[in-house]
Amino acid sequence: MSGLRDTAVEALDATGASAELAALACEIAEHDRRYHGKDDPTISDADYDALRRRNLAIEQRFPELVRDDSPSLRVGAAASSKFAKIRHALPMLSLDNAFSDEDVADFAKRVRRFLGLGEDDLLAITAEPKIDGLSLSLRYEDGRLVSAATRGDGAVGEDVTANALTIADIPHRLAGIRPSVFEVRGEVYMTHADFAALNARLATAGALAPADATETAGEDDEGAQAPDEAAPDGAIGEETSAASSLKIRQFANPRNAAAGSLRQKDPAVTRSRPLRFFAYAWGETSELPGETQTEVVEALGRMGFSTNAVPQNGRSAPLMRRLETVDGLIEHYRLIEAERAHLGYDIDGVVYKVDDLALQRELGFVSRAPRWAIAHKFPAERATTVVREIVINVGRTGKLAPLAKLEPVTVGGVVVSNVTLHNEDYIAGRDADGEPIRGGRDIRIGDTVEIQRAGDVIPQVVDVVLDKRPPTAEPFRYPDHCPICQSLAVREINPRTGRPDSVRRCTAGLTCPAQGKEGLKHFVSRHAFDIEGFGETYVEALFEAGLVRQPADIFRLGTEPLQAAIAEHHRALRDQREETEDTLRAAQGLAPKPRGKRKDYDYSTVTQNLLAAIDARRTVALERFVFALGIPEIGETSAKALARHFEDVRALMDGVAAARDGQPGEDWAELSALRGIGDSTFERMLAIGAAKAAEADWNPLRDAEIALKSNQRVALRERYGEDGAGLRAAIAQAAAQAPGKGFLKLTSDGEIGTVATLSLIHFFEEAHNREAVEALLDAGVSTTNERAAPPPVSSPVAGMTIVFTGSLEKMTRDEAKEMAEKLGAKVAGSVSKKTDLVVAGPGAGSKLAKASEFGIEVIDEDAWFARIGRAGGEAGSTSGG
Ligand code: IVH
Repeated sequence: MSGLRDTAVEALDATGASAELAALACEIAEHDRRYHGKDDPTISDADYDALRRRNLAIEQRFPELVRDDSPSLRVGAAASSKFAKIRHALPMLSLDNAFSDEDVADFAKRVRRFLGLGEDDLLAITAEPKIDGLSLSLRYEDGRLVSAATRGDGAVGEDVTANALTIADIPHRLAGIRPSVFEVRGEVYMTHADFAALNARLATAGALAPADATETAGEDDEGAQAPDEAAPDGAIGEETSAASSLKIRQFANPRNAAAGSLRQKDPAVTRSRPLRFFAYAWGETSELPGETQTEVVEALGRMGFSTNAVPQNGRSAPLMRRLETVDGLIEHYRLIEAERAHLGYDIDGVVYKVDDLALQRELGFVSRAPRWAIAHKFPAERATTVVREIVINVGRTGKLAPLAKLEPVTVGGVVVSNVTLHNEDYIAGRDADGEPIRGGRDIRIGDTVEIQRAGDVIPQVVDVVLDKRPPTAEPFRYPDHCPICQSLAVREINPRTGRPDSVRRCTAGLTCPAQGKEGLKHFVSRHAFDIEGFGETYVEALFEAGLVRQPADIFRLGTEPLQAAIAEHHRALRDQREETEDTLRAAQGLAPKPRGKRKDYDYSTVTQNLLAAIDARRTVALERFVFALGIPEIGETSAKALARHFEDVRALMDGVAAARDGQPGEDWAELSALRGIGDSTFERMLAIGAAKAAEADWNPLRDAEIALKSNQRVALRERYGEDGAGLRAAIAQAAAQAPGKGFLKLTSDGEIGTVATLSLIHFFEEAHNREAVEALLDAGVSTTNERAAPPPVSSPVAGMTIVFTGSLEKMTRDEAKEMAEKLGAKVAGSVSKKTDLVVAGPGAGSKLAKASEFGIEVIDEDAWFARIGRAGGEAGSTSGG
């Protein structure tokens, strides 16, 4: 639901465009990372393409705003660190997309125009299937395969040579006549049949893997995995059967299976996976074995590669053709589309390439794609099925997440039995802005729905077939109580939009078992406390056993109860495994497996290792501590920013308490956090509002001095109404509700925003959250902090402990303290042996006596100013520097 970008590109102004380009760069990079780096995409290809198109359209309108990190200058995601890197001799590029026949005609026109060809001049273009796998570059020197690299970010890929050598379609030596240097490029993929067999194998392997004590330790840590089947790399589609915590990990689709299988650390695993390869392009070559695309691909076939220039799978004609008209291209596209279901592997479109290589060279490249080629994408695949049930899961932050359980249906070679329904508005047929989606049709249990799966992505409901709605089907009643703990579940007002959040949340916080469990999983996870070997299954098991209910419990675990719980957990796992095994045997007509006396494993080593791992995390970086708390709006970046602000947990809690005292009123908070309103505009609005509050016909929306941009006007109008009266009232209120010092201290440097600060306040207002943090500190957890600003080394008082006493005449006590702290000194309230310096005004008493007793240097105010290199009486103005 991200990226509801309603403003037409034509209507954007430079500010809006620049903000959106920044957001798009970030969002697309994240999708790229998931798709290429983790083989785990979260949006459909179509949505992804839409994001990229929007980005490109904005860039075309505002070329001066193209960012250095623009997605259009980049292909894919950076190579992951698991493999050595290989820099491609020639970059591996991507393809532009066409989505309609018109786009294809435009492509041909562009090419003609660029080459200066007339309408009647011959232009031959090839058309071939676009294989849905992952691209691979194979470097041959003197006919011998010397390296194989994935695409990576286009410039640098991963070295998967050892793995590529295990793929039968990839020749180790090129046959016949071949160039002395030849980089052959193509697609690694998996057939539907091989994919289904692999998943079946993984499912049984997961269910029947022999029990041993270390099996679940380090559940989500790559390093601790058994080499293969226990958890395939890149596996998503992880299913937890309802009755058990037994995990059966499978690949979501053939592309992920191919990517996960190729990117294995152990080539023996890759060898056991049925991968295939089609060659269709090339990189660096010492000379080319042909003058056209067709000729070179035919030559690749003679050298030993599978290509689509020859008929495959008993077909009479090859799927790659050379055509001379746009109509011919479209006709061939339709033919491939019709063949698609019978190919036995996934393709997601047709690639057109200018056939003549001399023309290709002339056409060259724009940013990430060649001018001489384009991919004509197929529309996303669809299927209809019935909604059996709608279940609600509860996440770490209490989010109620609805999921439709479907009558299983095959969409593009993948069986889909679950589909996310996002939130209650989505079920009711509305988007986040209250606008109808699916023509306003709601989703009911028993409904026949049309679902769509594009490429390798999470399926979506695209429509409801009303004709097939059973008369008994009633609108879904979304729960307003948490299905796990029965507490009230609410939709809070989103301060960014002023509308109720699309998400309904359980209000019980960590006392809700679902949130407690999910919160603990987050707490131990890699970017938080990173407790080695403490995987999700252990969190579940220890939670169920009642041993760990809140983070602090982890640090109070005793050896014996822990070992007993671990043993019990593994016993339960073994029982489930045996039960599954017997069920599978029964299905094959076999008797249950005779099982002799059960061996009892010794879990003492596992227990000791886990306790040692916990011990190793008794002291963590402050930012990890803060991130681990799972405070809404506080991600890793904000946690780091907070660590720069505060030395330790106590200082943070004090800072948040001070922020709470200076908390702005609701109107101020809402108005300042409204999407698209920057700080300076907001301040101008308040200042002008204060001056014009009395003018009844004043409309802030139209005030030229405030100079609102069109997107800001839209946002304000949506929230406060057309005529400006609502906004005028809000401004008047807001002016009186401005935040105080403590709040501004957190938000002023722009690293931590209003929304995050309000969330921090809200979090620490809850007694149970404060208690959970206190309990951690009580359990002996402490923090280090390398981010807190180091004292300025040049200051003559840096690192000193200073006491101010007596009545100061040239500065207030607070100013003195602030000044000293800015210079890197610590200010104490009483004199002790640790005190380095006492600054005394007239009337100083016992503290002076103590100072002389300890032999501590005592100076007066003037000497203080001299020491720090400032004239006295400047106190007020020095506090800024
Ligand atoms: S040609 C310079 N031909 O699609 C262009 N690519 O979206 C080289 N792909 O990165 C690519 N089938 O991984 C080409 N027949 C085909 C293809 C194909 C699949 C993939 C390839 C490429 C991506 C671009």
